[in-house]
Amino acid sequence: MTARNFYSKGLYEVTGPTGKKFTSGTRYWRQSYESFLELDKDNRVWWGPNGNNVPALKRFLSEVKEGIVPQTLWKYEEVGHTQDAKKEVQEILQFENSALVFSTPKPIRLIERILRIATKPGDLILDFFAGSGTTAHAVLKLNQEDGGNRRFILVSNTEATADAPDKNLCRDVCAERVRRVIAGYRNKKGEWVEGLGGDLLATQGAGFAYLRARRIPAERVLSEIEHGQVWTALQLIHTETLTPFDAVAPIQQAETENGIMLYVPKVSEAVIGILEQAIQDAGTAMIYSWQPGWLHQQIEDERASFQAIPQFLVNRFGLGTRT
Ligand SMILES: C[S@@+](CC[C@H](N)C(=O)[O-])C[C@H]1O[C@@H](n2cnc3c(N)ncnc32)[C@H](O)[C@@H]1O
Repeated sequence: MTARNFYSKGLYEVTGPTGKKFTSGTRYWRQSYESFLELDKDNRVWWGPNGNNVPALKRFLSEVKEGIVPQTLWKYEEVGHTQDAKKEVQEILQFENSALVFSTPKPIRLIERILRIATKPGDLILDFFAGSGTTAHAVLKLNQEDGGNRRFILVSNTEATADAPDKNLCRDVCAERVRRVIAGYRNKKGEWVEGLGGDLLATQGAGFAYLRARRIPAERVLSEIEHGQVWTALQLIHTETLTPFDAVAPIQQAETENGIMLYVPKVSEAVIGILEQAIQDAGTAMIYSWQPGWLHQQIEDERASFQAIPQFLVNRFGLGTRT
């Protein structure tokens, strides 16, 4: 109940229930003497189990955290049910192909309640079984409501079967729902529903990315890996945001916490000048290429370090499974 900051009414002596006296010491009581007595009368002061401790203010859960104290029983009137959830998805995505109708979505209100209880506005939320993407929808909705900047990672499979080998629920339902919820969409009745925002590419350099995990056979990592795949892997390791591989550019460049990270798909005399300039501008550079030794000889600059592809990726991810 004390603070370091000077408070003119914060210097007095109080007497606890056992008669023990307490001063604010080198600090100041946060309340005036009158307010302290009021609180004590109201049973809001905690004097410890035996009434002998330095007084502390009792704070009720409802005051510590905004909102309601969670109950153990969640009724469907409050958090919805699967039928509601299906309607919610169908409002956003109207599929002609019934194979893509997702059968076990969760209601947005249910996930939103979980997020309210379990997360803070700056948290990163991971849903490893994302299904129709309700978690992302609820995160964006909650961010809009409380001004938070929660982020999410959703993971899900395609749900393809022998009967429907091209089915890709993750791409066509989950990711598509997230895109529409961010940008806005036409509902079943054809009315425009405003987007919840969240694709902050322009303002904060962060946006929504749909990525596909693929197991790459060992022999391809060593020889035939595509430049786009190398670039994505390097960005996943070093940066927070992803940019697509630019096939026309001589080097790929991304900012990292301590300088820049560069990928040189093809080394040449022409690339040397570009690299030197990039190092000059950034101060520190990590350069990945297929011929790091040769590049190092050309660019003798201790602000640059050189890494070999594909060895770096093999060291980092292993050789995977031979298929
Ligand atoms: C019950 S659903 C999730 C529903 C989700 N909360 C929603 O509101 O739509 C579980 C999802 O996880 C997916 N899944 C199951 N096993 C998986 C795995 N090993 N890896 C990735 N996704 C998986 C399923 O295909 C299904 O889409």
